[in-house]
Amino acid sequence: MKFGFFDDQNREYVITQPNTPLPWINYLGCQAYFGIISNTAGGYSFYRDARLRRLTRYRYNNAPMDFGGRYIYLRDDESRQFWSPSWQPTRHDLENYSCRHGMGYTVIGSTYNGIEAHTRYFVPLDENLEIWQLTVTNRRATRAQISTFASIEFCLWDAQDDATNFQRNFNIGQVEVEDGVIYHKTEYRERRNHFAYFGCSEQSAGFDTQREAFLGPYRGWDSPAAVEAGQLTNSIAHGWSPIGAHQVKLDLAPGETRQIAFVLGYQENPVDQKFDPEDSQTINKKQVKPVIAKYLDPKQADAAFERLRQHWDKLLGIFQVDTPDIHTNRMVNIWNAYQCMVTFNLSRSASFYESGIGRGLGFRDSNQDLLGFVHMAPERARQRILDLAATQLPTGGAYHQYQPLTKRGNNDIGGGFNDDPLWLIVGVSAYLKETGDWSILDEEVLFDNQPGSEKPLYEHLLRSFSYTLERLGPHGLPLIGRADWNDCLNLNCFSSTPGQSFQTTTNKGGQVAESVFIAGLFVSASRELAAIAKHCRLNAEADTYLREGTKMEQVVHEHGWDGEWFLRAYDDSGAKIGSKECAEGKIFIESNGFCVLAGIGLDDGRAAKALAATHEHLATKHGIVVLQPPYSKYYLNLGEISSYPPGYKENAGVFCHVNPWVMIGETRLGHGDQAHDYYSRINPSAREEISDLHRCEPYVYAQMIAGKDAPTFGEAKNSWLTGTAAWNYYAIVQWILGIRTTLDGLEIAPVIPKNWPGFKATRIFRGVVYHISIERKGDGNQISLIVDGSPIEGNLVLPPTDSRKEVTIKGFLGEPLHK
Ligand code: BGC
Ligand code: NOJ
Repeated sequence: MKFGFFDDQNREYVITQPNTPLPWINYLGCQAYFGIISNTAGGYSFYRDARLRRLTRYRYNNAPMDFGGRYIYLRDDESRQFWSPSWQPTRHDLENYSCRHGMGYTVIGSTYNGIEAHTRYFVPLDENLEIWQLTVTNRRATRAQISTFASIEFCLWDAQDDATNFQRNFNIGQVEVEDGVIYHKTEYRERRNHFAYFGCSEQSAGFDTQREAFLGPYRGWDSPAAVEAGQLTNSIAHGWSPIGAHQVKLDLAPGETRQIAFVLGYQENPVDQKFDPEDSQTINKKQVKPVIAKYLDPKQADAAFERLRQHWDKLLGIFQVDTPDIHTNRMVNIWNAYQCMVTFNLSRSASFYESGIGRGLGFRDSNQDLLGFVHMAPERARQRILDLAATQLPTGGAYHQYQPLTKRGNNDIGGGFNDDPLWLIVGVSAYLKETGDWSILDEEVLFDNQPGSEKPLYEHLLRSFSYTLERLGPHGLPLIGRADWNDCLNLNCFSSTPGQSFQTTTNKGGQVAESVFIAGLFVSASRELAAIAKHCRLNAEADTYLREGTKMEQVVHEHGWDGEWFLRAYDDSGAKIGSKECAEGKIFIESNGFCVLAGIGLDDGRAAKALAATHEHLATKHGIVVLQPPYSKYYLNLGEISSYPPGYKENAGVFCHVNPWVMIGETRLGHGDQAHDYYSRINPSAREEISDLHRCEPYVYAQMIAGKDAPTFGEAKNSWLTGTAAWNYYAIVQWILGIRTTLDGLEIAPVIPKNWPGFKATRIFRGVVYHISIERKGDGNQISLIVDGSPIEGNLVLPPTDSRKEVTIKGFLGEPLHK
């Protein structure tokens, strides 16, 4: 069952039924000001940091789940009926309800009793504000007297404190109202130099800033007393819960349309210019007033919307593809790329599953996110890399998280997740391949942000590499530390205290438990690093990295192979994990996926065996699960992984983040059909028809789909902010379609389904537009290339040495043209 449809032309998903199984959301803003918006106008806004600069209040764990947002009410002043055009919060039966989620904007509207209303919400580029453009049309044969109300509830800035510290908070709320604009200035009198504002383009028929005056005692947002009465009360909030509500009266002739704009924004004043007059407590509005006036002007707002569109056209235009599969096309061309930008912007902070209160950017997450967005935002990727590297410890280890506002490592979480450092090599390598900007390696970067500790970024990579080598276990495999990619495989934790954090508890010495996954990652990183060194003409160093990689590969063969597949780990007692000898958790996806991705066992048949076993034991129609059989009880020696009921999360859920490792592995084996089949199983667009089962948005990936051992097999959770976005994008673009960035140029190596006659793509790479067409001439993945009319040897297309800005590549698959 579907709840809407894709409008690919407009790059929108159109929801046609408001009661989606879960809130289906979108993001507003892509620089500093952000908002989450659901299909019924729920959600909240913040400036930079979802916890510390929360503009509007939102209650998680609510019933209904999505409640609180950018709510508009309409009231027929004759019949006194009122309703919400976005369905929530009044939940009246509407006609023609639709919610169009697009690239950085959302339009929600409907018709009720002949009154049509739509609101377009977006954040203009380079501004710290959001615009709500409400269009109301009278479709009746008679005049209509309509009151419109727009409302939001302010958060007292620190979202955590706002939700807990009531003894203080009920006393501090303050607002000002001037020229029809509501200013929220709680704590502005003391240490804050920022405030929020909520303005309206039309003559005000009333406002409210005190929640209780607007809602009335014992009432909720579904039936505000002031809306019911048809008149806001001009309340001024003193303490309690400041809100912003505007009322505008419309007298509409039949067929008449009116537009009203509302602007909600964030403003900082210089500390010494907070007040006007200086010795007063009144906000200095000199800087903000022109901004508000600008965006309440419909022409300026429309122009800002146009700029936003162009911004996304430009970003998405960097890679566009036309394949025989519509789900591939729309994910690659639109939604997956968009989700990659959102995960870059928001990391794992604010969604309907991430509360915006747990803070920090993951070291491993952020490095992996690079794989998906580096082509769209290379300058920002560069900065992200330098910020991440500056939190690296002198040992080469890494803080597991860093704080985006201070850019410091997070001491509460600390380090010791032994895969973390290696992801820096993966991230930097992806950046170099995309940009060819070798200067980044010479950037002087601090260790642990300590002045005087700076060393070239290249040195950081070496320390990442030696961090692993200096921490090898009894079998010569990398010690796992607190966990590797699988945050829940906590082999040194042994926690028996309820509620204790599995992520931060370490009871064991850590000198025994080893990870085959990290070994695979190391092998892969050693080759990336060697290629980088070689490019810098550091041949001897390159040889060392290759040698260490090959040594590790041998160790994996000796101690990481279980006969039919790769082992997952050794625990603190030296016992195997992910082996046929285990009672549960006999086989895991991570080591099999990553070892093959790294090329281990490609020559001796082990890679093929490992992925055949993965197919046999782990693949399901809803994706590949993490492990089998699931852990049926809690194991002290395994940690959080066995805390989840079977089929959920790391305990045998389909972790959509790691499925691409298997897809890439399959392409390395030349299996295009299998790779694309796996890709399609978790592709949200391909799952649209089963939205009632999948339940999350059909336009973005979710972190997890419940596995076959769960009663809710096939149900997705934790959409949007997940490494799934980057890895799936990377797998389909660079390995299945095979348009792959390398340090030297663009490699063309498609491993596509047999029945695809070919595909076309446009790729802007290092300033050159590549027009690529692939035509299947026969079976197999062998490719012959003609570049600007001339056949070339091999499949690496070097950047033009002349001034050409466009290059045409024709590729013929399955039939050698020149031998
Ligand atoms: C989740 C993991 C996550 C970890 C750290 C665990 O509860 O299951 O997916 O990586 O927390 O945030
Ligand atoms: C989510 C975390 O953000 C990521 O870092 C981790 O690798 C996966 N969960 C798996 O545990």
